[in-house]
Amino acid sequence: MKAPEVPKTLKALVLCGGAGTRLRPITHTSAKQLVPVANKPVLFYGLEAIAAAGVTEAGIIVGDTAPEIRRAVGDGSRFGLRATYLRQNAPLGLAHAVQIARDFLGDDDFVMYLGDNFIVGGVTGVVDDFRRERPDARILLTRVADPTAFGVAELDATGRVVGLEEKPAVPKSDLALVGVYLFTPVVHEAVRAVVPSRRGELEITDALQWLLDQGRDVRATTISGYWKDTGNVTDMLEVNRTVLETLEPRIEGSVDPASEIIGRVRIDDGAKVFGSRVVGPAVVGAGTVIAGSYVGPFTSVAEDCRIEDSEIEYSIVLRGASVVGMRRIEVSLIGHHVEVTPSPRTHAVHRLVLGDHSKVQIP
Ligand code: G1P
Repeated sequence: MKAPEVPKTLKALVLCGGAGTRLRPITHTSAKQLVPVANKPVLFYGLEAIAAAGVTEAGIIVGDTAPEIRRAVGDGSRFGLRATYLRQNAPLGLAHAVQIARDFLGDDDFVMYLGDNFIVGGVTGVVDDFRRERPDARILLTRVADPTAFGVAELDATGRVVGLEEKPAVPKSDLALVGVYLFTPVVHEAVRAVVPSRRGELEITDALQWLLDQGRDVRATTISGYWKDTGNVTDMLEVNRTVLETLEPRIEGSVDPASEIIGRVRIDDGAKVFGSRVVGPAVVGAGTVIAGSYVGPFTSVAEDCRIEDSEIEYSIVLRGASVVGMRRIEVSLIGHHVEVTPSPRTHAVHRLVLGDHSKVQIP
């Protein structure tokens, strides 16, 4: 009689290093994986998706922002994960991250998840496919407008992966590698075989190409509903919009009788709304005060903010920011503790104190 098959352990390797240059100035003061989408760090959606796929052991690769990531994720238990922190002393690439995780990963299969990637609908489907089929590796692909900012895959007519290239100047397709990869332990040989790329990193894309060159089975799943920090604020507002559309409406904070809350709105505990109109989908974080204002659709206001005598729509406001006397803010990303106020009436001037890499548009 055949012995029942013991399901193979599948671990997660979650990458939280990197400098986040593309999302400056927001990432001057915060790890890019902690940039909030609908008031929740982008990384948390990834950790939830990993846990939902049945993974319990997560190795977290951290770099310079290690203290911040540790503070946010802790021991992982709030996600149903056991987190092990692995230090990457310099951002030497994704294949390098796999190298330093060698002991943690042992001979287990794993899902590698880039902490700055957002996958609408999670990863349970692809993880299940991988567990069932166990090809040497499985990659996720998505169509993007600018493939030169990604790893790019070339498929043949039958959908088989025939080539992979990291940030090609002349891309062979518009299919970008999404930051979720599934590997069997054969990848450890591949990450040892690659040499630094033009940007001086050991690329996982090159390790995958090495597997293809060895005649290994690398399969691809094409998905839609994907975002990464390409530095494009428009994209970030768009992912924020997508997530807000699925928000659980809930009013836990206080709303005075002079206020009106319309549609899919979440007002967190400790938030206060006075004489204002909040039209969803929108979220207002704990400790935030909205007074005499209009907060329009697709807006996320984080914790401890102040929106007073203003109108704001289709925007993200980060922790501690205040917007006072402003008509009208749209399509904006306002950083931590930023103050937006009118200049004194007597002077028709703009007064600006802007951090490095800030962007301002004034009519
Ligand atoms: C990395 C990979 C790239 C992939 C991207 C997805 O790029 O090198 O192939 O398309 O993640 O997020 P990086 O963020 O290092 O520029």
